[in-house]
Amino acid sequence: MAAGVAHAEVIFIAVGTPPLPNGEADMRFVEAVARGIGEHLDGETYRVIVNKSTVPIGSGDWVRMLILDGMLARRQALVPVGAAIADSEDLPQGCFDVVSNPEFLREGTAIYDTFNPDRIVLGGSSDRAFAKMQELYEPIVQRQFAVDRDRPPVPVLRTDLGSAEMIKYAANAFLATKISFINEVANICDRVGADVVQVAKGMGLDARIGSRFLNAGLGWGGSCFPKDVSALVHIAQDYGYPAALLEATIAVNQRQRLILLEKLQQELKILKGKTIGLLGLTFKPDTDDLRDAPSLTLAEQLLRLGAKVKAYDPIVKTAPIAGLEITTSPLDLASGCDALALVTEWQEFQELDYLPLAARMRRPLIIDGRNCLDRDRLQMQGFRYIGIGR
Ligand code: UGA
Repeated sequence: MAAGVAHAEVIFIAVGTPPLPNGEADMRFVEAVARGIGEHLDGETYRVIVNKSTVPIGSGDWVRMLILDGMLARRQALVPVGAAIADSEDLPQGCFDVVSNPEFLREGTAIYDTFNPDRIVLGGSSDRAFAKMQELYEPIVQRQFAVDRDRPPVPVLRTDLGSAEMIKYAANAFLATKISFINEVANICDRVGADVVQVAKGMGLDARIGSRFLNAGLGWGGSCFPKDVSALVHIAQDYGYPAALLEATIAVNQRQRLILLEKLQQELKILKGKTIGLLGLTFKPDTDDLRDAPSLTLAEQLLRLGAKVKAYDPIVKTAPIAGLEITTSPLDLASGCDALALVTEWQEFQELDYLPLAARMRRPLIIDGRNCLDRDRLQMQGFRYIGIGR
């Protein structure tokens, strides 16, 4: 910490803000780092302290206060015995500024997203800090590292601290809502006999809607959406506002996580004693992350109902929950299964030849929880194919 603070003009706070049991963000790590920075500031050299962590609105000001606390604690510790105790009035308050600079990268494409951002958001009130941040981001703004260098410069949006903090929550909450929305449409499609894949395509071509994050499936998970939507609901509650739409976004998602279970029950009726093979466990492809993965909710419920549950995932090689059997190949997974349930849309599963799998299964039933497989081909190979909302 001492070396980092001594040599840096810009200091990023990029620690986790995991959810507490009540959905509120746990700010202990931010607090420790902010105080620590304060304890190591010399009070002379100017520094920009950038908050990259996703934090409740108002945290930028709180971080500033903690840094000042840290500076004060350090000074008080250094006061010779008998001398006057330093107080906050004596602190060189202008020796640093706090900027909020939310991150929008996705797991699995973090480096790409960092160098090819859609926008850079900088929240704060200091022109000096803003100029330093512009200088820092200039190569990225000018697309020096971008895959497509002909794209126009990256927009840099300057806002106040609180708005930058809110942009992060609002963007994630919107994307989660977009997914819950299409999942709800998918469930209606199932009932009326429409195909959500075609519906999403038709909706997405409207530039106001856009086609991304409109893939129906067994719900969103991971370390960001669940935590951030809950935190925003919690922040609203603190101000006496019931965030009904966001609560519905969460409720739809909780139900959606069990959509495969519902479909398996419709097909197989009693699940006790049946063998179910899960294709994929991680919350999305190209990551090893199992945090808040829909697969775990599904596996737990299947086990609770007495099913035998096996899984194959290209990355996960040890069972994340008791009772779940991890297999070493899709072929191995298929052996003796009453159904396969595709949970994560890994490329490997989209390219797989399913015919040899069918021969090993007790019955060739496949539930495609991400609508990513070739339905016609599977049906031609004798599979009973069931998607989400199609
Ligand atoms: C998300 C945001 O996309 C990033 O912009 C943000 O910076 C990040 O959270 C964060 O706050 O740090 P990430 O959690 O890595 O990124 O994953 P996403 O690609 O957004 O997927 C989240 C979940 O939504 C996954 O479970 C995925 O399967 C699901 N999803 C996504 C759908 O069900 N349908 C879709 O159309 C898209």
